[in-house]
Amino acid sequence: MNKVLVSLLLTLGITGMAHAAGDPAAGQEKAAVCGACHGADGNSPAPNFPKLAGQGERYLLKQLHDIKAGSKPGAPADAGRMVPEMTGMLEPFNDQDLADLAAYFASQKMSVGMAEPDLVAQGEALYRGGKLELGMPSCTGCHSPRGEGNDPAGFPQLGGQHAAYVTKQLTDFREGNRTNDGDAMIMRSIAAKLSNKDIEAVSSYIQGLH
Ligand code: HEC
Ligand code: HEC
Repeated sequence: MNKVLVSLLLTLGITGMAHAAGDPAAGQEKAAVCGACHGADGNSPAPNFPKLAGQGERYLLKQLHDIKAGSKPGAPADAGRMVPEMTGMLEPFNDQDLADLAAYFASQKMSVGMAEPDLVAQGEALYRGGKLELGMPSCTGCHSPRGEGNDPAGFPQLGGQHAAYVTKQLTDFREGNRTNDGDAMIMRSIAAKLSNKDIEAVSSYIQGLH
């Protein structure tokens, strides 16, 4: 076998190991440090800290890699995802640790909240219908009608997520403060078409969606 092929196979083997399946029980032990903000089972009590419980494993793992890269002290602004509260926190964790953490939180169940009754109509129309006149697709197509997302495709669960956190993410995508949605800029281009009032309504709707 030629050398190039051997080294290619080795590289693929190593990449395969880096994506080894996570172990939820091992992840639970490593998650002790996360509980203060995200809740022991990943249902965070504070609305600005996202719920991780029941979130898709693939999505969680991608965010952990993005946050680890983007939240190192001195990381360039576009290095991944900047979460100041988590600065340096993922440094001690290797790829297997991150996979275990993702597997643990994915194995929990996200709690559901409530929508503001007077925002439901506008929120639901946006979530299910998008804004056709602006060419903005509905959220349903990717995040699913009940908000479970589509983990094999990397689309996160939204149903039950804290409205305050969702509002911050949509605003961050719109203002270009969160840029880890890939080269296709899926969420940045969608959020660009949302007004503040739209964001408030759809976020409230999502908090009660299940
Ligand atoms: C001091 C508080 C704090 C601690 C401790 C903390 N986080 Fe976070 N985490 C946050 C905040 C705040 C955000 C959301 C930032 C934003 O608004 O974009 C976040 C975001 C995340 C996200 C992205 C969620 C999503 O829906 O995209 C993941 C995954 C995550 N944290 C995992 C962890 C893990 C695993 C640990 C423990 C190793 C941890 N966090 C410890 C504050 C914390
Ligand atoms: C074409 C598919 C697609 C559509 C349509 C779509 N999204 Fe997304 N959304 C994504 C992807 C992919 C991500 C994850 C990006 C990443 O990897 O960080 C995402 C992430 C998000 C997040 C961040 C979740 C978190 O836990 O941090 C929010 C909030 C969100 N979308 C809301 C919406 C809303 C509201 C709509 C409709 C107005 C919508 N999305 C439409 C694909 C889509």
